[in-house]
Amino acid sequence: MSSQGLRWYSYPVLDSTNEEAKRLLSQGFGHGTVVEALEQTKGKGRKGRTWFSKKGEGLYFTLIVEPQETGEMAAGLTLVMAIAVCRALEEIIPFDRIQIKWPNDLIINRKKVCGILAELILEGSQIQGAILGVGINLLQETFEEELKTKATSLYLETGQVPDVAAFKEALEHYWMEYYEKYRENKTLEFLREEYQKRLVNLGQTVRVLDPQGEYEGIARGITKEGYLIVDTEGQIQHVSSGEVSVRGVYGYV
Ligand code: BTN
Repeated sequence: MSSQGLRWYSYPVLDSTNEEAKRLLSQGFGHGTVVEALEQTKGKGRKGRTWFSKKGEGLYFTLIVEPQETGEMAAGLTLVMAIAVCRALEEIIPFDRIQIKWPNDLIINRKKVCGILAELILEGSQIQGAILGVGINLLQETFEEELKTKATSLYLETGQVPDVAAFKEALEHYWMEYYEKYRENKTLEFLREEYQKRLVNLGQTVRVLDPQGEYEGIARGITKEGYLIVDTEGQIQHVSSGEVSVRGVYGYV
């Protein structure tokens, strides 16, 4: 099943492509289904934030991932998607290396151009699947006040209208390649080096916004499970993305 390609279902407007993906999953749509909307009225970001999703300004889509792979591999799926999106974007814009702010914000020139929202879908204790929602800033020329210093778009960075069809084709290729490797390996060891090369905070001081107590340390990379390795004066912490956010000490990255 996993060698099949992606099947895109496009809608003019949805509340949220993640919500529609959940509805489709419950109706039996399976692995490789992608839900896309030109506009979202209730776009969701991580940590309960809103993902502003004006018509045609961004690319908003959600991929359904098959249930049998999602238990132990769930946390790593977003990192796999992050790398696949980086590679696909690099095919359509003149940037050699898009960076990543752990776990899965994609960064160009120290500003966020893409976010990924993963959700695990359970029925009782049974895993029905995972969904990976991706929002890419395509054409925005300005952003809401709270995002102005943090966000950018492909148009602002390149001065060009991005070729979305070419991006989707490339994404399918890279997603299949990296996802297959992840299925075979069951850990992220195979993409650790590539991920770390892209890690915007590598070797820098980060602030870990842990609800149990904030702390600072040096980001050293990721583990094969996808945890961020933070060195707090010789003590190594493995930070899990479900629990915390990470900030640069001088701002967003
Ligand atoms: C983040 O906070 O960085 C994650 C943002 C994820 C946004 C995308 S847009 C498509 C999908 N549908 C949603 O409602 N959210 C995700």
